[in-house]
Amino acid sequence: MKLTQDMNDFLVEDILEDLKLIERELYTHLESDPPLLGEIATYLISAGGKRVRPALTLLGFKAAGGEDIQIVIPISAAIELIHTASLLHDDINDGSPIRRGQITCNRKYGDANALIAGDFLFVKAFRIGGMYDWEIVKIIADACSKLAEGEILQDYNRYNTDLSIDDYLVTIEKKTASLITTCVKVGAVLSTNSPEVVEYLADYAHNIGMAFQITDDILDVKGTSDITGKPRGNDIREGQLSIVTIKALEMTNGAGRKRLEEIIKKRENSDEEIEEAIAIINDTQATKFAYDLAIEYADKARSQLMKLPESDYRDNLELIIEMIIERYY
Ligand code: FPP
Ligand code: MG
Repeated sequence: MKLTQDMNDFLVEDILEDLKLIERELYTHLESDPPLLGEIATYLISAGGKRVRPALTLLGFKAAGGEDIQIVIPISAAIELIHTASLLHDDINDGSPIRRGQITCNRKYGDANALIAGDFLFVKAFRIGGMYDWEIVKIIADACSKLAEGEILQDYNRYNTDLSIDDYLVTIEKKTASLITTCVKVGAVLSTNSPEVVEYLADYAHNIGMAFQITDDILDVKGTSDITGKPRGNDIREGQLSIVTIKALEMTNGAGRKRLEEIIKKRENSDEEIEEAIAIINDTQATKFAYDLAIEYADKARSQLMKLPESDYRDNLELIIEMIIERYY
């Protein structure tokens, strides 16, 4: 397995420069009085997120022919603020101790403060979004509704070992792929009047979003915390069923299945029990099944992308597909 490839290693020079402008823009929205809210937000934002979402908005914009990036800078920052808000809220819901390799805001500042910091960022993003046309506001607001739906579905299905792969795919489309799609689509809509180009880019993004969440779920049992910034077996600890656990349950029987089910359903597990569940899963072909599905999504993303005219930006979008599927193996 190799370490997550860094996007900064392959993004074209002008996109890297544009990302610096977005980074600067992000920090202009983090001041508060009293300073605690800004401090909580800064703590998470400065912890080294990959900024995949702003990069996707910029690349969507430029791959669709856009040139003057001033129009995409604020909205790219807004989407990163929404993403950060959703992580703050998600870590409260999941009771997560570690994010991006550091103690989560809920553990460091308490659930109530982390909750309000999430609201604070969300409203900052809304303020930026309000400067744009209704079409853009609608795309982003719809993605936010889907994020909330995905989160509630995930919570509702916690410890549910009868969850199907189709249910799982619906959840990840809402909680992950919808915002990734929005990033690229917003960039494209701000750049071109061609509905076809917007459609190809949005389809590309939907498919990489699905592949991204599937590889993330594989890394939960195959990765190490220095790659993911989260403890190994985190999903199992949180009772969250993923494509990997669903398939492993399907592929095991007898004592192995009974034990895996028992651990997933249990509210508190020791580190040894988590490792025991991972060993049962890794004795099956569940991660191979999941990886093959991620590759299918990656192939669909590539075929939509290839309908666009050749450019450095299209090449970068293609390298993002490789980055996602090479996070594992
Ligand atoms: C992470 O899933 C979950 C999300 C990215 C979605 C969170 C959405 C909300 C909390 C709804 C509120 C939305 C807004 C806009 C404030 P995960 O728990 O599988 O991932 P993880 O392992 O990284 O925690
Ligand atoms: Mg979580």
